[in-house]
Amino acid sequence: MQNKELFLSVSILSSDFKNLEKEIISLNHSGIDEFHLDIMDGNFVESISFGDPIIKAVRSLTSIPIEAHLMVDNPNNYVKNFSELGVDIFTFHVESKSNILETISNIKKHKMKVGVAINPDTPTSMIEPYIDQIERILFMTVYPGKGGQKYMEEVNDKISEFSKKLKTQQVLLAIDGGVKIDTIYGGYNAGARLFISGTGILNSDLGYKGAVNEFHKIIRG
Ligand code: DX5
Ligand code: ZN
Repeated sequence: MQNKELFLSVSILSSDFKNLEKEIISLNHSGIDEFHLDIMDGNFVESISFGDPIIKAVRSLTSIPIEAHLMVDNPNNYVKNFSELGVDIFTFHVESKSNILETISNIKKHKMKVGVAINPDTPTSMIEPYIDQIERILFMTVYPGKGGQKYMEEVNDKISEFSKKLKTQQVLLAIDGGVKIDTIYGGYNAGARLFISGTGILNSDLGYKGAVNEFHKIIRG
């Protein structure tokens, strides 16, 4: 069973931070459903991306929901702060060091939606125990750490298998990494209903609105 609704989210990791305000305003009008903020601590992944000041700036420029995707060792440490900064969906990795059940309940206590992300090599059995308690699963279709990588087609089979076994419509399946015009349909076909794209929108020749329209055309038919 799967959600029928489709959602498109933009990862701002590869946007022009010199002109962040302009970028967010253009994306606000592009037809996206969510902003995706990639938080990296230099430990869970090699890079350090950005933190509180950027989250605060984005929040002040948009009323569109914001998902924070935490690629950090100890996500539970950031729950309270991120909720105060106005994050709507808190997504953390099943491979992180925080206790999963404690983190889920902390996110709920702070009135955010719960997402759990899973790396390409991690088996879905790792997330199965938590499915009834979370709102979304974010399947990484690249190894986390940077934008602009190639979509790993093999993750489609993993999503497809998982989505066939799924008994609930509550949980939204998302794909993150390398989502582009030529890869989005494979993820949709496998069962994903939330599509997170960075360079697929930000570097598109069609412009932000044009890229979003094109994605919509492909997935909505
Ligand atoms: C990868 C991040 C992704 C990434 C998406 O570590 O979690 O959100 O920025 O960017 P593209 O779509 O360019 O792969
Ligand atoms: Zn991400």
